[in-house]
Amino acid sequence: MFNALPVLETQRLSLTGARHDDLKTLQEHWDDPLVRRYLFDDQPVDEALAKVVLDACLDGVQQGHGLWLLTERGSQDFVGSAALIPTSVAAEYEPLLKGLLEPMISLAPIRWGNGLATEALSAVLGHAFKTLTVASVAAVNHLPNAASERMLLRAGFTALSEVAGPKYRLRTFIIQRHAWLARHDA
Ligand SMILES: CC(C)(COP(=O)(O)OP(=O)(O)OC[C@H]1O[C@@H](n2cnc3c(N)ncnc32)[C@H](O)[C@@H]1OP(=O)(O)O)[C@@H](O)C(=O)NCCC(=O)NCCS
Repeated sequence: MFNALPVLETQRLSLTGARHDDLKTLQEHWDDPLVRRYLFDDQPVDEALAKVVLDACLDGVQQGHGLWLLTERGSQDFVGSAALIPTSVAAEYEPLLKGLLEPMISLAPIRWGNGLATEALSAVLGHAFKTLTVASVAAVNHLPNAASERMLLRAGFTALSEVAGPKYRLRTFIIQRHAWLARHDA
């Protein structure tokens, strides 16, 4: 049982558990056309939709999963969001993903291309495998989202299947705890 998500640190980022009063910051970030393109199938993200997503993430906190805000260590400038959440839409298309957790990483576009997403994903996977000790973590990528696919492969995910999705085709991925630990303890 968790009262709050732990603060996670990477070389350049702090990941702090999201709170209800982060809604406006998250809504504006997720509604950026470049951020919502795949993450929200290009739907505008108004306050109501952002609240549904934030509330669903906050519901997982006692189980140790949910949503973190990414800030730059030192300056505390907002960088983006990272989540570890139960698979939902993806599991409707790929039943092997049912019951697993999946990460969701989004950075403000001005921050793209500097390896920060890779750092955030590594912190979230460390939490999943070392703190929650789950056996495996799923991931889903919209096929045209090349940066996200590279980020997943770089973290050690293996492709599982390619399935139809609500808007784009989806590629599903999985990573096992023992494989992740072997890479990170090496
Ligand atoms: C997906 C996202 C988080 C990646 O952020 P990023 O800052 O580009 O990620 P990184 O700098 O850590 O790079 C990750 C990998 O993608 C590669 N990459 C980055 N942009 C790329 C592009 N346009 N095409 C192909 N590869 C790209 C990088 O070279 C790196 O691979 P490497 O380590 O093998 O060199 C960012 O694009 C984003 O926030 N997108 C909007 C939200 C989203 O779609 N999230 C995905 C759902 S989880």
